[in-house]
Amino acid sequence: MAISICFAILLLISTISYAYECNYTSIISFGNSLADTGNIKNLVSIHHSQPPHFLFPPYGETFFHKPTGRCSNGRLIIDFIAEGLGLPLIPPYVGDKRNLSNKDVGQGVNYAVAGATALSSSFHEARGVSNPTTNATLQVQLKWFKQSLCSTSSDCQQLLKHSLILMGEIGGNDYNHELRAGKPINEVKSFVPLVVKTIIAAVKEVIKLGAKTVIVPGNFPIGCSSSYLTMYNNSDTKMYDNKTGCIIWLNKFAEYHNQLLETELQKIPKFNYHHVNIIYADYYNAAMQLYRSPKEFGFLNGGLKACCGGGGGPYNFNQSVECGGPSSTTCTDPDTYVSWDGVHLTEAAYRLIYKSLFEGSYTMPRFNSLCTNITS
Ligand SMILES: *[C@@H]1O[C@H](CO)[C@@H](O)[C@H](O)[C@H]1NC(C)=O
Ligand SMILES: *[C@@H]1O[C@H](CO)[C@@H](O)[C@H](O)[C@H]1NC(C)=O
Ligand SMILES: *[C@@H]1O[C@H](CO)[C@@H](O)[C@H](O)[C@H]1NC(C)=O
Ligand SMILES: *[C@@H]1O[C@H](CO)[C@@H](O)[C@H](O)[C@H]1NC(C)=O
Ligand SMILES: *[C@@H]1O[C@H](CO)[C@@H](O)[C@H](O)[C@H]1NC(C)=O
Ligand SMILES: *[C@@H]1O[C@H](CO)[C@@H](O)[C@H](O)[C@H]1NC(C)=O
Repeated sequence: MAISICFAILLLISTISYAYECNYTSIISFGNSLADTGNIKNLVSIHHSQPPHFLFPPYGETFFHKPTGRCSNGRLIIDFIAEGLGLPLIPPYVGDKRNLSNKDVGQGVNYAVAGATALSSSFHEARGVSNPTTNATLQVQLKWFKQSLCSTSSDCQQLLKHSLILMGEIGGNDYNHELRAGKPINEVKSFVPLVVKTIIAAVKEVIKLGAKTVIVPGNFPIGCSSSYLTMYNNSDTKMYDNKTGCIIWLNKFAEYHNQLLETELQKIPKFNYHHVNIIYADYYNAAMQLYRSPKEFGFLNGGLKACCGGGGGPYNFNQSVECGGPSSTTCTDPDTYVSWDGVHLTEAAYRLIYKSLFEGSYTMPRFNSLCTNITS
């Protein structure tokens, strides 16, 4: 009895000491198409460049009923985070109507740009790989952030103190662009440490500027993506995980990136910074649940087949018939698919992944352990 009271008091004390940190008044986000809520859309209109396929219907059809620049049929993980914290959906940094920046940034700003890499464009260009979508790399996004919100260090500290920082997912495209350009996996594997180092540097930078809670997602199990399953289609069954049908070597590659990222995150000396929460978000295993037992989660069409795209083939994916393009087709019930367009996931999948992360056990330390509400 005494012990349990003692424990309850301890719990209460620890809850109180964390309460203000979880009272997030804004979200600041960096990353790629997994988090872009409209930057690429507005960049394309500013630069008058060719709009990518994901700016056309049926993107956005399920929730927004129009394309918003989000690479899904509806909301993304970041949208569910915002809803979960009682905040409005996070606006893109790049404003529309030819404004470079949205000035009204009260409850958060999203700097994530679809197609963005962690490493500089020049790194990849030197290897003969150019980015088809954007040069707004992580470094560029951080520069935008500092210019827009950190013009004075006290403004910046004040804002970041109460912000949830979402640092990623980023890095996945460094691998995607290279693999799609035909680079062998061993070559790509050689610069994983550099990608991780770049992400860690960004985490340290926002902490130095005053961030108190930084969430750092790892990569998804890319061996389960319809695009890679089609690209590396092979009759050798040993290449596939017999439980999920995913490509083993690609998933091992994603695991390698994630392990390195987690290890390096743990090495960040938190004692240098007062009360900083650095949280690893295990996108890989949160998504893996859906690929292991899709039907249990309501994905009656399985985990591997895309809802929207080129039709045909076991994965309904064809690189030359992109979702949103003139001859693509769309399934009638996207909620029964994990994969939206062969690369990105459906809103239904993102919602479940969000729940596993922010209401469940797939964040380390657990996000919901930091943010228990005091109700009584
Ligand atoms: C949470 O933030 C709001 C707005 O800044 C503030 O009014 C409120 O008192 C805060 N709550 C706690 C528990 O710190
Ligand atoms: C740019 O943003 C500012 C501040 O939000 C706004 O007053 C202005 O009208 C915008 N300009 C255009 C061309 O939309
Ligand atoms: C990225 O920058 C290079 C020059 O470094 C340029 O040639 C290319 O068009 C840019 N790509 C995009 C998508 O803006
Ligand atoms: C599935 O793969 C595992 C490990 O590669 C193997 O031990 C097992 O026998 C396989 N099961 C079937 C049904 O092929
Ligand atoms: C995948 O490969 C198998 C055997 O190599 C072949 O029969 C099949 O048509 C291929 N499927 C696609 C979509 O390329
Ligand atoms: C992909 O689409 C193109 C264009 O419609 C077509 O020529 C090609 O045969 C398709 N590839 C597969 C594997 O279905």
